[in-house]
Amino acid sequence: MLKVSAPGKIILSGEHAVVYSRPAILAAVNLRLSIRSKGSKRVIDSDVPVGCGMGSSAAYAVALSALKCKPWNLEKINDYAYKIEKKHHGNPSGGDNTVSTYGGFLWYRKEAEGLKIFSPIKVRVKLPKFFIINTGKPLESTKEMVSLVAEFGKKNPKKFKEILTGIESVTRKFLQYLLKEKEYKISELIKENEHLLEELGVVSETAKQMIRVIERIGGAAKVSGAGGKKDRSGILLVYHKNPKTLIKFAKSRNLDIFLVKLGEEGVRIEE
Ligand code: MEV
Repeated sequence: MLKVSAPGKIILSGEHAVVYSRPAILAAVNLRLSIRSKGSKRVIDSDVPVGCGMGSSAAYAVALSALKCKPWNLEKINDYAYKIEKKHHGNPSGGDNTVSTYGGFLWYRKEAEGLKIFSPIKVRVKLPKFFIINTGKPLESTKEMVSLVAEFGKKNPKKFKEILTGIESVTRKFLQYLLKEKEYKISELIKENEHLLEELGVVSETAKQMIRVIERIGGAAKVSGAGGKKDRSGILLVYHKNPKTLIKFAKSRNLDIFLVKLGEEGVRIEE
C-alpha cells in the first residue's frame, strides 16, 4: 500500500499572464489531495476545493504521477503531471503542477514549451494573514477561461500587451516585497493585480461587487487562478489588516471563509 499527497496552490500574482511567458508567483497551501493505492484500487481524498482556482487538478496530476514514479524523482513527477495537465487544459503554463510538486513559494516562468524556469522564493518579510473566500465554482473551466483570454488578446492586441505588462510589473513588485527589497503595501499590490484581471475579463460581476465591498471596508481581494466570467469566479485571496472585520463581513453574508497557510510542503509520501 502506498499513500501520497500533493498540495493545492494559490497564485499571488501572474495568473493568465504566465501562459504568455510572463512570470508568476505561486504558493503551495495547507490543503492537500491524497491518493491511496491498494492493489488495483485507488482512493482519493481531498480538501482542495474542486475547479475553484486552488489547483485541485494539478494536485491530482502530481499525486497520480508520484504514485507511478519509482524511484521517487521530483523532476519526473513534475514532467508527467504537466503531461496530464496538458490533456485536461490544452495550454497550461505548468505553474500549478510545479508548485504542487516542489511546494513553498515559487517564481515561475514558461519561456517556451521546452524551457520552464522556476526558483524557490525565500520569503524574508513577515507575511500577514491571508484568507480565502470561495465565490463558488465558475461555470467555465480553466481551459475555457484560458481560451477567452486568448480571444481577448487576438481582438485587442495592444490593450492585451499593456495588461500583461501591468501584471508582470505587479508580480515583480510582489517579489521585491517578499524578499524585503522594497516596501509595498500588500493591499495595494492585491488591488492592482485584481483590477488588471478585471480588465482582462476573467472576473464576474458578482465577484467584482463582492471585491468592491471588501475594498470599501478596508481590505483587498483578488481572484486567484483562472477566474470565472459568467457567474462565480472561484476563490478570492483576501487580505485585511484587521481580520475580525473581514470575518464579520463574511459571516453577515454567509460566505465560506477560511485562513490559508502559504508556502507549504510539496508532494510527499504519507504511508
Ligand atoms: C490557473 O491556475 C492559472 C492560469 O494562469 C492557467 C495556467 O497557468 O495554466 C489561468
